[in-house]
Amino acid sequence: MINRPRRLRVNEKIRSLVRETSLQPEQLIYPMFVVEGRDIKQEIMAMPGQYRYSVDRLPAVIRELENIGISQIMLFGIPASEDHDECGSSAWAADGIVQRAIAEIKQHSDIFITTDVCLCEYTSHGHCGMLDADGYVNNDKTLQLLAQTALSHVQAGADMVAPSDMMDGRVAAIRALLDENGYINTPIMSYAVKYASNFYGPFREAANSAPQHGDRKAYQMDYHNGREAEMEAALDVAEGADIIMVKPALPYLDVVARLRPQIKRPLAAYCVSGEYAMLQMAVNRGLVQPDIIYESHIAIKRAGADIILTYFAPELAKNL
Ligand code: PBG
Repeated sequence: MINRPRRLRVNEKIRSLVRETSLQPEQLIYPMFVVEGRDIKQEIMAMPGQYRYSVDRLPAVIRELENIGISQIMLFGIPASEDHDECGSSAWAADGIVQRAIAEIKQHSDIFITTDVCLCEYTSHGHCGMLDADGYVNNDKTLQLLAQTALSHVQAGADMVAPSDMMDGRVAAIRALLDENGYINTPIMSYAVKYASNFYGPFREAANSAPQHGDRKAYQMDYHNGREAEMEAALDVAEGADIIMVKPALPYLDVVARLRPQIKRPLAAYCVSGEYAMLQMAVNRGLVQPDIIYESHIAIKRAGADIILTYFAPELAKNL
């Protein structure tokens, strides 16, 4: 027999020699939830092992993360319920929840902070932008609010901003306002290819951000579409996005693989709350081996992602 692929599988040394894909802790971004209050570490019911932290608890948590090799976090703010309004104005308040969290973290650490830029956690109706009288999310009126939100995060000390709202033109609006204010070197990681997905369910419980009426299908992408992802990614690159993200990750690896040869920018994939919940609960019940988590993240890398946003970041980093 001439071809025996098993020759390269005989032992771990030869297998590692020919391994095509690897995962480093520096490629992981850990998403975290910040709440109002003091001394709070509250487990998120739909995401066992994930917590909402109050600002004062963050420095200690960040120190632990850095000790296990995590150098990247993504912050989500959960404002007090009385701070919700029609246009989500607490999203860009200088003393808003995310802005205070950034300042507190940066006093103790230089961990790289990316912020999720969106209005849904801050609006009374739970949509990602301003509503017209008929309930339609008004694209163009929302752009300035998103840009203002991004700017306030950067002014508070954020290292990178990540718009997740799916309004058309928001990358250009954010880039223009950051540049105008001198932040020419602050990168934008765009949630360029974000599907209207059922996999965000646990997140919406975590962040209390479910839309009060309707759904997000008039701005997030239709999951029947793959070709459209190429257009969305190309538009965001043209508007100045530095990193392109696909979200969710595991059910959308075809999209990651499809974009990889086209996009000359780094590609990120977000393993979202529903993916976390499914894997973690199956592991917790002993239905599958915990190594399924590493395997799943290798699959995301193999499909072509350079960066993975994942709630499993600490667990992966500990084992790498
Ligand atoms: C905000 C936002 C969402 C997620 C990230 N940013 C929720 C949504 O679009 O409804 C989802 C993250 C996750 O499910 O882990 N727009």
